Amino acid sequence: MLAAMCGIVGYVGGQPALDVVIAGLKRLEYRGYDSAGVAVQTESDGTLAVDKRAGKLANLEKSLADTPLPGGTTGIGHTRWATHGGPTDANAHPHLDDTAKVAVVHNGIIENFAALRAEIAERGHQLRSETDTEVVAHLLGEEYEGDLAEAMRKVCRRLDGAFTLVAVHADSPGVVVGARRNSPLVVGRGEGENFLASDVAAFIAHTREAVELGQDQVVELRAGSVTVTDFDGAPAEVREYHVDWDASAAEKGGYDYFMLKEIAEQPKAVADTLLGRIGTDGRLTLDEVRIEDRVLRAVDKIVIVACGTAFHAGMIAKYAIEHWTRVPCEVELASEFRYRDPILDQQTLVIAISQSGETMDTLMALRHAREQGAKVLAICNTNGSTIPRESDAVLYTHAGPEVAVASTKAFLTQLVACYLVALYLGQVRGTKWGDEINEVIRQLADAPRQVEEVLGTMEPVRELARSLADAPAVLFLGRHVGYPVALEGALKLKELAYMHAEGFAAGELKHGPIALIEQDLPVVVVVPSPRGRSVLHDKIVSNIQEIRARGARTIVIAEEGDEAVAPYADHLIRIPATPTLLQPLVSTVPLQVFACELATAKGHEVDQPRNLAKSVTVE
Ligand code: M6R
Repeated sequence: MLAAMCGIVGYVGGQPALDVVIAGLKRLEYRGYDSAGVAVQTESDGTLAVDKRAGKLANLEKSLADTPLPGGTTGIGHTRWATHGGPTDANAHPHLDDTAKVAVVHNGIIENFAALRAEIAERGHQLRSETDTEVVAHLLGEEYEGDLAEAMRKVCRRLDGAFTLVAVHADSPGVVVGARRNSPLVVGRGEGENFLASDVAAFIAHTREAVELGQDQVVELRAGSVTVTDFDGAPAEVREYHVDWDASAAEKGGYDYFMLKEIAEQPKAVADTLLGRIGTDGRLTLDEVRIEDRVLRAVDKIVIVACGTAFHAGMIAKYAIEHWTRVPCEVELASEFRYRDPILDQQTLVIAISQSGETMDTLMALRHAREQGAKVLAICNTNGSTIPRESDAVLYTHAGPEVAVASTKAFLTQLVACYLVALYLGQVRGTKWGDEINEVIRQLADAPRQVEEVLGTMEPVRELARSLADAPAVLFLGRHVGYPVALEGALKLKELAYMHAEGFAAGELKHGPIALIEQDLPVVVVVPSPRGRSVLHDKIVSNIQEIRARGARTIVIAEEGDEAVAPYADHLIRIPATPTLLQPLVSTVPLQVFACELATAKGHEVDQPRNLAKSVTVE
C-alpha cells in the first residue's frame, strides 16, 4: 500500500490559485518531499488542470515553468512522503477519478482501502496508481450529485483509518472541500479568500486568522464562506484563533538552512518559553495547565511518552521530576507504550511531549492513556494541533515554527517546559520550597544568555566537524542527564550525516560497547559538572581515560574551569557552568552545531535529510 504523510494546501479566492498553492507547498515541504502536485479549476473552460511530479517541489515547479497550466482562482496542492513503495509521477497526488472531474489530495492511511479498491475495480473503474488515495477520487466521483461537501461526507463515512482529504470538482466552481480524521487540517480565513492547509505556515503570508477543524469534520470553502459540518452533515463547532507567528518567522532569515536559523534562535526560544511564569504572588504559575491542584496532588506515578528528540527531552525530565517531586516517573517511546498494556489509572499523570502535536505514535499513546483514566498533559509547540487538543491540559513551548527536520530549538524549549512542570508539581505537592523554586527559575532565566555564549564559541566545533567528514562512526557518551544528551547528539548525526553514531551511558562501556573503540575513533563525551555530584564527574573522567588508552580520539564537552578533564581531551569544547540538571540546555548546543556542519561538509541537504519527514503522522 502507498499511503502518505504529507503537506496539503487548498485555496479559493481572487488570486491566481497556482501561485498561492505553490508558495504554501514550499512552506510545507518539510512534511514530505518525495513528490508534489497541483490541481487548478481553469477559468477558461471549467475543467481541472493537473500537474504532478516525483521528487522535490522544484521538479514540479520546473514542469510548470516548461508547460504552464491555464489560470484559475481555485486550486489544491500536495507534497508527499510515501510510507510504502517508491515515489513516482503516477503515485503523486492529486488523484483523479475516471472522468477527471474530481481531484483529491490526501494525508494519512485509509486502512480499508484494499476492500474499497476491489469494489471499485469490480464496478469497472480504471485505477492508475498504487495509492489508497485514488480510491477516494473514484468514490467521490460516484457520490457527487452537485454538492461536493455532501459527496465527501458520504465517502468519509465509508473510510477507516487516519486521513485528511481535500478535493475540488470541475462542476463545483469556486468550491474546495476538506475532511479530517486524525490528521491535521486548518482553515485560514481571509478577506474574500479562504485557505486550507496541514499547517498554518502554508497561509500565514496571507492571513493569521485560523479555524481549527475537529475530528470527523468536513469543511466547504468558498471565497466568502467557511461551512463546517460533521460527517453526518450536522453543523459543527469549531475553534477560531489568531496565529501569533508571522511570515518572517518561517523564512530562513539570511541563513543557508532553517536548521542554522533555528539553532541561532534558541536563546530567544528558551526566553519566550520562560516568559510570564512567575505570578504577582511570586509563585510559579502555569495558567494553561488546567489540571486542578487536587488532582496533581493525588498523582502517584508520572509516565512520559514521546518519540525521537522529544523522547530524549522526556528522559532528561525524568531526572528533574523524580529529584524535585519524589514521584516515580517512567519514560517510554510512544510507539511501544500501548502495546505492552501499561499500568495506568486515575492517579497516573501522562506527559506527552511533541513539537508538532501531530506525531501519530504519541497521539495513540495519549488516547490509550486517557481510555485507562489517566490525565494527560501535553507539552507542545504547535497551537491547535491534535495532541494538545486531545489532552486534558497543555503547556505550550514558544519556540516558534520549527521547519528543519532535525529538531533543535524545540528540544531546548521542551526541556524548559519539563523543568517548569517538575517545579510546578514540586510547588503543588509541597516537595519544593518557594525559595528553591525561585532559585531554579533564576538559573533557568540565565539559560538564554548561556546558550548565546555557547553559540558564540562554535567555530572550533565546526572546524572539527569538517575534519571528521570521513570518519566511519562517532560514539557519544554521557552519564546522568548527559546520557540522553549523548543519545540526542548521536540522533542528530545519524539523521543529518547518515553515519553510524551511537550514544551510550558511560557506565555501560565496560559491559560491551568498549569493544567498539579502535584507533582514532572519535568519541564525544558529555562531562557533568565537577561541582555538586562530583562522583559522577570523577567516574566519567575515568571513562575518558579508559577509551583514550584504547586509541579513541576524545572530544570532551566540559564546563569552564573543569581542569581535571583537560589532560585527557584531544578536543575540548567549553560550556558555561550550570547546575547538573540544567546542563543539557547548554551541552546539547555544540552537538547540534557539530552534526549540522558535518552533514554540510558531506554535501547533505541539512533541512530535508533523506527518508525523513518533519511530522510522522502515521504509525
Ligand atoms: O513533532 P514531534 O516532537 O512529536 O516529533 C518527534 C520526532 O519525530 C522528532 O523529534 C524527530 O526525532 C526529529 N527529527 C529529531 O531531530
